[in-house]
Amino acid sequence: MTADIYRPAAPAAPNDLDAFWMPFTANRAFRRRPRLIAAAEGMHYVTVDGRRILDGAAGLWCCNAGHGRAPIVRAIQEQAARLDYAPTFQYGHPAAFALASRLADLAPGDLNRVFFTNSGSEAADTALKIAIAYWQAKGKATKTRLIGRERGYHGVGFGGVSVGGISANRKSFGALLPGVDHLPHTYSREHQAFSRGQPEWGAHLADELERLVALHDASTIAAVMVEPMAGSTGVLPPPRGYLERLRAICDRHDILLVFDEVITGFGRLGAAFAAERFGVLPDMLTFAKGVTSGAAPMGGVIVREGVFEAFMQGPAHMIELFHGYTYSAHPLACAAGLAALDLYRDEDLFARARRLEETLADAVHALKGLPGVLDVRNIGLAAGIDLAPAKDDDGREVPGRRGLAAIERGFHDHDVLLRVGGDTIALSPPLIASESDIADLVERVRRVIIATG
Ligand SMILES: Cc1ncc(COP(=O)(O)O)c(C=O)c1O
Repeated sequence: MTADIYRPAAPAAPNDLDAFWMPFTANRAFRRRPRLIAAAEGMHYVTVDGRRILDGAAGLWCCNAGHGRAPIVRAIQEQAARLDYAPTFQYGHPAAFALASRLADLAPGDLNRVFFTNSGSEAADTALKIAIAYWQAKGKATKTRLIGRERGYHGVGFGGVSVGGISANRKSFGALLPGVDHLPHTYSREHQAFSRGQPEWGAHLADELERLVALHDASTIAAVMVEPMAGSTGVLPPPRGYLERLRAICDRHDILLVFDEVITGFGRLGAAFAAERFGVLPDMLTFAKGVTSGAAPMGGVIVREGVFEAFMQGPAHMIELFHGYTYSAHPLACAAGLAALDLYRDEDLFARARRLEETLADAVHALKGLPGVLDVRNIGLAAGIDLAPAKDDDGREVPGRRGLAAIERGFHDHDVLLRVGGDTIALSPPLIASESDIADLVERVRRVIIATG
């Protein structure tokens, strides 16, 4: 620990909070009582007034190696001094190829070819575009339909929102993409409440894909995209056998299966990717967040050999895929990524997450019985806790109000950073957490639940 980090930032707080329109934030509520973070190290954030805040969310599901890790900091600094930026359209730089090779080694099966983006949203849209272009390259240009899932989150691009299944994210933005359909989500409180790990009930919901194939015909369907574990809508582990069935149905009808591993990649479920943990190989896998442990923006898509090969036809002077970003494989992100992967390997952090899974499960499931705790779910180093919504003076439920209160109480009164969606708390601590950090985190959550009940 450096002493510096606990020194309040100067100036302690900006004097004007008006200009920044904050993403996915209740802006007016925030300005009334701001939650300002000035520094971070290890498992903790430090507020502008010098308080240590336990990080219960790895930032936003991304800082898997913890905060302020010296090798990552050094790698970014050295890379910035050596090569600030290089285009990757028709040119390359060594770190991009090095990181792609490392990711190909980490990904299961023949998921060997890596396309870089700058975020999970861009990764999702890139995967959807590759799926449609793949079938065109294979001479099956009618296969354009995209299938997502209710309660799915694939970021905020038009593709990801269209395939995603969160109504709040969709309803303000018009008709979205045409030719999209959705599987039902896999959550049932009635059948699954307080399950540990993968619920026993729900594999049959994958068969809904057969119904969509019967409705639309496989000749119109390009791909199915799902999160192997839905994270943003409250940690929904896949029912036992569900992903296997999806894979089998996709195989039967020549449909590409895409796993959105933006949250589940890089150890969250105790393996490099959820595909490895669940033993199901998708045709494409998206990643972001943990690839740099959150230290630089980066995302991407890893595709199987056969997908890549379909594009490597035609004249060699031609661009094979008319897609990419100015900052695809940005040198600073590549340096951060290489350093983060080294840390994951050298500290065996994915296995550590797997070992800590039971510790987290025991701690969160002990919250059952607290007033207003409707369900608790867990898998890997992630857990979801559904809280009963607050009620207004007339006894009507006000969804989301208790959730915001949990964020506020957590930050200001209990020194913990929580990720909350609606009235569900999602826990995803950095993978460097100790057993006592996990006990401490869940104790703070217990106090927040009581305080907001
Ligand atoms: C599964 C999944 N896909 C995509 C995204 C979007 O990533 P980003 O916010 O980096 O665009 C997220 C973000 O939480 C996610 O959880």
